[in-house]
Amino acid sequence: MSKEQQIDSLLHEERRFPPSAEFAAQAIGQASLYEQASDDREGFWATQSRELLHWHKPFTEVLDWSNPPFAKWFADGTLNVAYNCLDRHVAAGLGDRVALHFEGEPGDRRDITYAELTSEVKKAANLLSSLGLTQGDRVIIYMPLLPEAIIAMLAVARLGAIHSVVFGGFSAESLRARIDDAEAKMVITADGGNRKGSVFPLKAAVDQALADGKTSVEKVLVVQRGGNEVEWTSGRDLWWHEEMTPMSDDHRAEAFEAENPLFILYTSGTTGKPKGILHTSGGYLTQASFTHKNVFDLHPETDVYWCTADIGWITGHSYVVYGPLANGATQVIYEGTPDTPHPGRWWEIIEKYGVSIFYTAPTAIRTFMKLGREIPQKFDLSSLRVLGTVGEPINPEAWMWYREVIGGNTTPIVDTWWQTETGAIMISALPGVTSTKPGSAQVPIPGICVDVLTEDGQQVGPEAGGLLVITEPWPSMLRGIWRDPERFQETYWSMFGTRYFAGDGAHLDKDSDVWLLGRVDDVMNISGHRLSTMEIESALVAHPMTAEAAVVGAHDDTTGQAVVAFVILKSRFAGTLSDEEVSHQLRAWVGEQIGAIAKPKRVFVVAELPKTRSGKIMRRLLRDIAEGRDVGDTTTLMDASVIRTISDSVNE
Ligand code: WTA
Repeated sequence: MSKEQQIDSLLHEERRFPPSAEFAAQAIGQASLYEQASDDREGFWATQSRELLHWHKPFTEVLDWSNPPFAKWFADGTLNVAYNCLDRHVAAGLGDRVALHFEGEPGDRRDITYAELTSEVKKAANLLSSLGLTQGDRVIIYMPLLPEAIIAMLAVARLGAIHSVVFGGFSAESLRARIDDAEAKMVITADGGNRKGSVFPLKAAVDQALADGKTSVEKVLVVQRGGNEVEWTSGRDLWWHEEMTPMSDDHRAEAFEAENPLFILYTSGTTGKPKGILHTSGGYLTQASFTHKNVFDLHPETDVYWCTADIGWITGHSYVVYGPLANGATQVIYEGTPDTPHPGRWWEIIEKYGVSIFYTAPTAIRTFMKLGREIPQKFDLSSLRVLGTVGEPINPEAWMWYREVIGGNTTPIVDTWWQTETGAIMISALPGVTSTKPGSAQVPIPGICVDVLTEDGQQVGPEAGGLLVITEPWPSMLRGIWRDPERFQETYWSMFGTRYFAGDGAHLDKDSDVWLLGRVDDVMNISGHRLSTMEIESALVAHPMTAEAAVVGAHDDTTGQAVVAFVILKSRFAGTLSDEEVSHQLRAWVGEQIGAIAKPKRVFVVAELPKTRSGKIMRRLLRDIAEGRDVGDTTTLMDASVIRTISDSVNE
C-alpha cells in the first residue's frame, strides 16, 4: 500500500466508542470544560490553576504574551512545586495514602506513603543544601526508576534549583554533553540498576563522563541499588544512604516565582546536538495536574494509576512525577523491563496492585500483540477502567487489541498527543465525553487551540492534511532552549510567527478530528523515543572507518520506525572487513556515542549515496529502499544509477 492509500484507509475509520452512561456520569472531566475554556481561555486556566494548586502568593496576572515567543504565565504568583506535590497532601490529612508502590525488577517492593515521601524529600533537600545547592543551580539525575530518583527530583525542585534527568540508557558521552551544556554542579546517580535479570552499571558511566576532571560537577551522590562494584573518587563521591541518615526531616519549603525554572530536559532535534528544553513552575504544574486529572479521570481516593514511562523522558516527568503527585494519586512504579522474568510481568503487576488507570506506548502494545493474547488473559485485569497511549501514532489494529484484550472491551482509550516541548497533553479525548475513534488523537483538550496548515500558512479544513501548529500560548509550554534563544525562535516560531510549529504532520478527517502522521522533519520516533537522524549520522562519521553516512527512520511494524543507516567507508577500509563486521562495529560505536536506543537496526555499506544536483542527500529515496518500496521519481538525482546500485546491494 502506498502512503496515500494508508492515510486514506485510516481516515475512513467508522468505528466509534462513546463512553458508557455510568462512566460519563462519574467522569471528572465534563463537556462544560470545553465551553468554559472557549468563553474565556485565560480565565479558564486561571481558575484551573487556583483550584488545582496551592499558591503561596496568589497571582493576579494570567498570561503575558507581550514579547512572543517568550511567554509568562501567572508571573506575579509564587509557589513551591514540591510543597504542592507533598506537604499540602499531608496537611490535608492524606499522609497515610500510598504515593508510590515501588516494584523492583527482582521482585522486591516498597510502599511509600505521602507522609514518608514528604519526609524523605525534606531530608534530601537538607542534604542538597548542605552540599551548597541553591536556587537556579543545575543537577543531573542519572538513575534507574527508583523512589530515590523521584525524591531527588522533588528535593531539587523544593530548593528552586533545576534538574536535568538523563535517561539511564544514554552513554557516558551523551551524559557528558548534557552535564557540560547545563553546567551542572552535581550528579545524582546509582551504582547500578536491574534490567533483564542483571545489573547494569550507571556510576561507571558517570566516572567516565567526568574522567578528564574538567567539569563543573563538584559532587556525585550515589544511591545503592545494583550492589555492583564501583570506583570511588574521594572528596567528590558520596553515598546517598550515608549522607541521608543524619539529615533532619524538618525543612520549610520556600516559595519561588511562577516562572522559576523547574527542569531542563534534553531532546533530539533536527541538528546533531540535543536541545535543552526548559520548563518553569506554575504553568507547567497547572497543565500537568489538569490533564492528569481530566484526561485519565483520576479519582485519587480509589484509583491506582500506572504510567510505564521512565523518568528520563518527558512522560515520566509530567505523568509519573509532577501530575500524579500534585493530584495526590496512588501510583505504581516499576524498575525493570516488561518481559522479566516472564512476558506477563506487566499484567501480573496490574493484577497485584489493582491498577485502574494504565498509560503506555503503542510499541509496547504491538509487542504484546505479537506475543499473543494468551499471556495477558492469564491475569485478572478487571480493575482497569481507563487506558492511555502516548509517544507515537497508534494503528487502529493495536488500538482495538488494547481495548479488547487489556480493557475487556469496556475501557475508554485516550490517545494523547504532546511533546517534550509542550510539557503536558495537548490533544486527547476526554474519556467521559468523547466518542473515541481507533487511531486518532482527536481533539485539543479544553484551553488548547491547534490548527493544521499548509506550508504557506493556509488552514486546510476537514479531509485534508498539513502541518500541526498550536495557535495560542499554553501554560506548560517550553520557555526556551537552555541558553539558546535563537535556536528556540528558529526551530518553533520561524515558520508561522506567533503560532508554534510542532514538527508533526497531521490530517483532519470529516469530523475535523486530528490524525497524527509522524514527523515532517529529520526527527525519528523509535518505540516512542525521539532520535535525530543528524545526531546518529554525526556519530557514524566520527568513526575512523566512515567517510559518509545517511540515516533514515524506516517503517517498523513493532517499533513504529527503526533506524537504518547507509554508510560509505573510507577507501582504505573498503573491502577490508565483511559487511557484517562493519555493521557490528558501527552499531557498537553508536551505542557508545549516544546510547543503545540509537543503535541502527540495519547498517548498509554502499559505494555512493543518492544526492541531488545541489549535493543534498535524498533521504526519501533511502527510506523507500529501506522499506522495500519502488523508488519513485529520481529525476532530480545527479546520477540515477546510484540508486539502482544501492537497491541491488540492499536486496542482496
Ligand atoms: C510523537 C512524547 C502520534 C510526535 C510525549 C511528537 C505522537 C513526538 C503522539 C514527541 C501520539 C507523541 N500520536 N504521535 N499520541 N504522542 N507523538 O518529545 O511525533 O518524546 O512530535 O514527547 O512524539 O516526542 P517526545
